[in-house]
Amino acid sequence: TCKAIILVGGPSRGTRFRPLSLNVPKPLFPVAGHPIIWHHLEALSKVEGLKEVMLIGFFEDSVMARFLDDAAREFPKMNVRYLREYQALGTAGGLYHFRDEILRGDPQQLFVLNADVACSFPLSDMMRFHNRHRGLCTILGTKVARENANKFGCLVAKPDSHEVLHYVEKPESFISDLISCGIYLFDCAVFNEMKKAMLNKTTQGPYQDQDDKLRLEQDLFGPLAESKKLYVYVTQEFWRQIKTAGSAVPANALYLEQYSKTCPDRLTKKSIDGQGPEIVGHVYIHPTAIVDPHSKIGPNVTIGPRAVIGKGVRIKDSIILDNAEIKNNSCILHSIIGWDSKVGTWARVEGTPTTNYSTTITQNGVKVQSVTILGKKLGSIFTSEIRNLPVKVEKWIVEKAKQSVAE
Ligand code: GDD
Ligand code: GTP
Repeated sequence: TCKAIILVGGPSRGTRFRPLSLNVPKPLFPVAGHPIIWHHLEALSKVEGLKEVMLIGFFEDSVMARFLDDAAREFPKMNVRYLREYQALGTAGGLYHFRDEILRGDPQQLFVLNADVACSFPLSDMMRFHNRHRGLCTILGTKVARENANKFGCLVAKPDSHEVLHYVEKPESFISDLISCGIYLFDCAVFNEMKKAMLNKTTQGPYQDQDDKLRLEQDLFGPLAESKKLYVYVTQEFWRQIKTAGSAVPANALYLEQYSKTCPDRLTKKSIDGQGPEIVGHVYIHPTAIVDPHSKIGPNVTIGPRAVIGKGVRIKDSIILDNAEIKNNSCILHSIIGWDSKVGTWARVEGTPTTNYSTTITQNGVKVQSVTILGKKLGSIFTSEIRNLPVKVEKWIVEKAKQSVAE
């Protein structure tokens, strides 16, 4: 049998995802009508014999409670639980800490998925590949543009066997354009290697390491590659990281595209009788949203629950969140409109399409062109441009956001 882990991280992370992560933890932000990690669960639910998924992170339990209830209803064949780390233990630290829980029932294999990615998750293909080699771990790999490669874990592999010869996490200089997607399949025997890595770390002492975290990327994959136990399965299908809030927009487009191929019923149909809005390309409109028939929506648009879209509105490449209201004749392009936000009439909210795999908000002190974001309610205050603020202001913003959630 096989189990799965989703590494969800915690509240100290995801600052690049502000302002959206002020109201909802990043892994639960909705993309294509569902929380980011719902898409992970959907893919896992299709793996034969996989019955148990554990989310590991350091958010408070209450943050995950609703999602877990929903998941139990939507994926009744899987048991989905949340295991909370008392602090950030690192990408392997949480796995090691909860090893007894994970190994209960003696599973043979373990999928580990980073939460902050959008992907077609070719898990069954990975598994077939994994079962043909003698390694302990298969990493899902993809090729990216040379200039972006050093933001990821980089892999050098044998061309025929796909055995990984070198793994370097975020190298200073270019080594390969083949990168890790942050999606792994392990044999459970890997916990022995983790134990070795852990001992190695503790015997080296605190002066060798900046902290006591155990990381898959830095502490495990190196030794695994050295002992010829690491392999890469290269996917040609879609993959993208979700780091900045703006990257939710391209991720949204990718999942809508996937719906069009695998479950077109989820997408909003073009209206034949002129009764509905004009739909262009892939669009997902929640059944409880009210969209004026004299509007034009798409491509790559998701409209959330109870949103209200007025007459003459144009929306393209955007995410409109729950209860947002877009009044008549406004135009929303390459943007995210937060929960309960109100955009007046004849407004133009226009971001810039994100073409590269940008994971930063500023570059050389200049703001990177990106999608426009209105956060919850007080949208104009919580724009992503506010960064590197004095601690006092930072605290004030987070306080305000909490109040707006409490309301
Ligand atoms: N539970 C837990 N505890 N989760 C964590 C922790 C931790 O201490 N630290 C990170 N994570 C989770 C994050 O929530 C995220 O889902 C994932 O682990 C990786 O996050 P980062 O450590 O921020 O790494 P990264 O996203 O910059 O790079 C990773 O992903 C790339 C692909 O997206 C690396 O694995 C790269 O090698 C990889 O290319
Ligand atoms: P399509 O019309 O979908 O083919 O878009 P396009 O790629 O030709 O044009 P662009 O991306 O520049 O603008 C997208 C759409 O928004 C256009 O169809 C415009 O008619 C519409 N639009 C642009 N500005 C406004 C505005 O201020 N208000 C409204 N309501 N619509 C606008």
